[in-house]
Amino acid sequence: MISKLAGKNKIINMQKLIIANLKMNLLTLSERERYLESFKKELKNKNISDTEIVLCPPAVHIENFVKKIHPVKSGKAGTSQSEVISQGKKAVAIGAQNIFWEERGSFTGEISAAMVKNIGAKYVIIGHSERKKYFSEDNKIANAKIRIALHNGLVPVYCIGETKEERLSGNTVDVIMKQMVEGLDEISSTKIQSIVLVYEPVWAVGSDEIPTGNEILEAKILIKKLLSHAYGPEIANKIKILYGGSVKAKTAEQVCLEPGMDGVLVGRESLVPSEFLKIAETINEQKKTE
Ligand code: PGA
Repeated sequence: MISKLAGKNKIINMQKLIIANLKMNLLTLSERERYLESFKKELKNKNISDTEIVLCPPAVHIENFVKKIHPVKSGKAGTSQSEVISQGKKAVAIGAQNIFWEERGSFTGEISAAMVKNIGAKYVIIGHSERKKYFSEDNKIANAKIRIALHNGLVPVYCIGETKEERLSGNTVDVIMKQMVEGLDEISSTKIQSIVLVYEPVWAVGSDEIPTGNEILEAKILIKKLLSHAYGPEIANKIKILYGGSVKAKTAEQVCLEPGMDGVLVGRESLVPSEFLKIAETINEQKKTE
């Protein structure tokens, strides 16, 4: 039933997007090397030609990830390295987990969108629930970061979703609407087409609890309606909507394929390349049969 509904969606031909949020992991250089070696080895054996893979390591590793994933183009700051890196027919890009909302200047410890772009990243995660929880980031901050990301040619991966309390008190729709309205404030209809949205219920992050396919589909329909209302259906249909929160290979069907999502944002499982790429392969398989 759900997949039938999702199958009617006009955007089924879009390339799927599988994003790894490596969070604050890979603490040593040897750990980083092992991860990259394992990722490249696993990638060779996987049939994921219709899917773009994005790795979002900690900021200190971005440059190295760019170089190691695509050695030939490394070192040329601000050039083609920020584009998708093709390994055969397999597309791999690099993303950041965060940026600051100002362009440059006296902001000790912060990293700007231009810096991230110029060392070869293509994407940046914005509005993640851990940024909200530990750094008190709100929708306005997300909006400022989305705008600076777009201004610098990065693709913002904007995470939205409700907490457990908000869901239990029946406020899911209001919360998502507010995150969309405030987070996407003053984003033009041209710029909005470069954005990726992730429905990532806060209670599903790091918990092993996941919504049903139907609950995810409801969120997706709401997000699409809001986009459609603001930008028109044609533009709304061009915007990727992913799912995030405790994604595993064995749940990829329920959280991505059933509700017809355009991909997933993966946390813990992305730390094991074989498991992460199994998720990508499962989703890619379905794409080929559509
Ligand atoms: P998780 O994290 O897959 O470990 O739940 C997802 C995320 O934080 O984006």
